[in-house]
Amino acid sequence: MNKIKIKKILKKKGKKQIVCLTAYSSTMAKILDKYCDIILVGDSVSMVLYGMKTTKEIKIDTLILHAAAVKKICRRSLVVFDMPYNTYKNKNLALKNAKKVMKLTKCDAVKLEGGKKIRNIIKHLVKKNIPVMGHIGLLPQTSKNFRVKGKNKEQQTKIYQDAIELSNSGVFAIVIECVIESLAKKITKDILVPTIGIGASRFCDGQILVTDDIIGMSNFQPRFVKQYSNVGKIIEKSVKNYCTDVIKRKFPTSKHVYNY
Ligand code: KIV
Repeated sequence: MNKIKIKKILKKKGKKQIVCLTAYSSTMAKILDKYCDIILVGDSVSMVLYGMKTTKEIKIDTLILHAAAVKKICRRSLVVFDMPYNTYKNKNLALKNAKKVMKLTKCDAVKLEGGKKIRNIIKHLVKKNIPVMGHIGLLPQTSKNFRVKGKNKEQQTKIYQDAIELSNSGVFAIVIECVIESLAKKITKDILVPTIGIGASRFCDGQILVTDDIIGMSNFQPRFVKQYSNVGKIIEKSVKNYCTDVIKRKFPTSKHVYNY
């Protein structure tokens, strides 16, 4: 199995779609690794697995444990670590934390949320050989609301400039979250690095979604999510049947016990 390198991701721009999903565990990563170009160990783990109210609450050491488990099992996909809130407030802190992440998880890259404001932090990491993925548009760690971005000229100009700045800062790809389609299309056309859309457009160079959302393991169903299965229902049915069997003494049977 050939490991996907950053060079390959860059080459796909405008030619082949880049497929990305999130994983927080080795069991999920093992499945995704066969199909995804990029697996993101997202700070969304905070809300999806830990039931936290925002992504701001997850601690770097918790995410490191998830990322190490994911990376260990992956043979093919590029694994990206989502730097948690407040872990890249300045150049030195960002480098210290990113180095720790790379050392302990062996991930291939880190992702940082923000545009123009964090360009010098990104440049610093890239200069120190840490590959960086950008994230613009709706920024769950800092956005005041979770509404679609780019509806007015001022927002459009800001997000467009963020994209240009990041592209010039050395990121190898940019996640564009929840912006109007025409803006994501223009950014994708004008920058050199691939864009990865989430609720952004059909015109991005790739797409990312939270895996739990597409398999029906979360209650999050915004317009941009397509649900492909309802794994939650399958689990519920299995659990219900197991409970009934135990109560009715149908499990265990002679097949499930040890005799000598
Ligand atoms: O944390 C996350 O899962 C993300 C993606 C949805 C882009 O940042």
